[in-house]
Amino acid sequence: MLLFKRHADLRKYLNQIKLAGQKIGFVPTMGALHDGHLSLIKMAKKNRELVVCSIFVNPTQFNEQKDLETYPRTPHKDIRMLEMVGCDVLFMPNTSEVYPEETETSLNLDLGMLDKVMEGAFRPGHFDGVAQVVKRLLDLVQPHSLYMGQKDFQQWTIINFMIQELGIPVQLIRCPIIREPEGLAMSSRNARLSEEEKIKALAIFETLKLSKDWIQKMPYQDVEKEAMKNLNLPGLKPEYFKIVNKNTLLPPSESTPFENLIACTAVWVGRVRLIDNLFLGE
Ligand code: PAJ
Repeated sequence: MLLFKRHADLRKYLNQIKLAGQKIGFVPTMGALHDGHLSLIKMAKKNRELVVCSIFVNPTQFNEQKDLETYPRTPHKDIRMLEMVGCDVLFMPNTSEVYPEETETSLNLDLGMLDKVMEGAFRPGHFDGVAQVVKRLLDLVQPHSLYMGQKDFQQWTIINFMIQELGIPVQLIRCPIIREPEGLAMSSRNARLSEEEKIKALAIFETLKLSKDWIQKMPYQDVEKEAMKNLNLPGLKPEYFKIVNKNTLLPPSESTPFENLIACTAVWVGRVRLIDNLFLGE
């Protein structure tokens, strides 16, 4: 695996790759890698693309300085894991490479309602930061395909919107959520859970699965209420449980097809905030 820290060097290398006719698949991450991240790399490899992974803990998407400072950083382990799955290129820039003073990187893209609901309502400005960094990284890497996880469904939807709005020539691929054997969605934040908290957190996926049954029998508003009740257990604090139209992220209407319904939730498990989601029509 080749490691680049400077974008000029990365571009020089990728230009040669492109000239040789090889397709480039890009997997942006913030590091502290787990099997969920690696599944994105594996998907890009399966599609026979040269895989570029980036590790950059993006300061502009954090609402709280403390969260940015305590975000887990495990670069040596990450490099070993990437090498094991056959990642071709790792881009590990520092902040001044991504946001050089002389380059205007703010996007001023109106995300409409997409960033006002769910995660956006609880983390104002977060998705502006995500869109900004993904746009900047796409400019630097110029991949054919961009691989992102359904785990962060609202993030995926917003990046999809940005790609359409700005006419960026890249194919966005949505990769399924990778879970622990018991059902907990893999997340860098899981490392901060105790064994007891990990067991408590299983209620999140259990409730998502229950909501899939409940939606057959009751209106979506009642399902949301039942789910919030179900998650209100000792040691858990549900922040929201929403059933929305996957395209608009807004509450469904009578005519929303079943396969467009997705349940999304955020739950505090002790001091760790976890998110998860499930398509209700699949
Ligand atoms: P990060 O949280 O490191 O996630 C990087 C990618 O891995 C995202 O596309 C995310 O959806 C995917 N991912 C995380 N957990 C997953 C799981 N259990 N199964 C499948 N995919 C999973 O998301 C970010 O970083 C940042 O916001 C980023 C897009 C890199 C911009 O800074």
